[in-house]
Amino acid sequence: MQFFLDTANLEDIKKYFEWGALDGVTTNPSLIAKEGVSLEKRIKEIAEVVDGPISTEVVSTDAAGMIEEARKFAKWHKNIVVKIPMIEEGVKALKILSAEGIKTNVTLVFSSGQAIIAAKNGATYLSPFVGRLDDISEDGMALIHEIVTIYKNYDYKTKVLAASIRHPRHVIESAQLGADVATIPPAIFEKLIKHPLTDKGLKAFLDDWEKVKKLQV
Ligand code: G3P
Repeated sequence: MQFFLDTANLEDIKKYFEWGALDGVTTNPSLIAKEGVSLEKRIKEIAEVVDGPISTEVVSTDAAGMIEEARKFAKWHKNIVVKIPMIEEGVKALKILSAEGIKTNVTLVFSSGQAIIAAKNGATYLSPFVGRLDDISEDGMALIHEIVTIYKNYDYKTKVLAASIRHPRHVIESAQLGADVATIPPAIFEKLIKHPLTDKGLKAFLDDWEKVKKLQV
């Protein structure tokens, strides 16, 4: 399973990539807006630090505009993956971009019907938003399960990228269900590593070691 970091914050990217286990980055317009730098500047900065897929989202709502943005993004760096919203115009753009060999990440996915259409149009990644479904009392993980099953049934090559992750269980359950990728906000990535019993156990070992150090050889 691959892990992407869901952020446009360069300091967080530098910090958490040092920990290993991360394979790429996803951004969206809201994450970029928090940073106070231009999209192009930030994506190029990320590409200098990260040797893996970097998702960058279009903001056009018509297919021609999305295609133009996508072609521009693809020239910025070989690792760029273009995020396309799952709307009718997005589907039209996706078909053309797939034929051109531009990597795509179909975003704002909330149903298996959308997942099938995206796969049939050659999406590289598909981003079901599990947290936002949970927020409205639906079942985000059930959607991951449904899509993974369908993609296996038909050997679709599109990778399932669990997005809108809210807590570590979303990551663990995505792994159990066979999602190809989870894109994880920095604070959740940190929570994956930490466990209070690890900290407590280490403290006890180190306290005991202080007693051993006082002994003569
Ligand atoms: O980048 C897409 C997704 O991960 C957004 O998550 O927390 O805004 O629902 P969230």
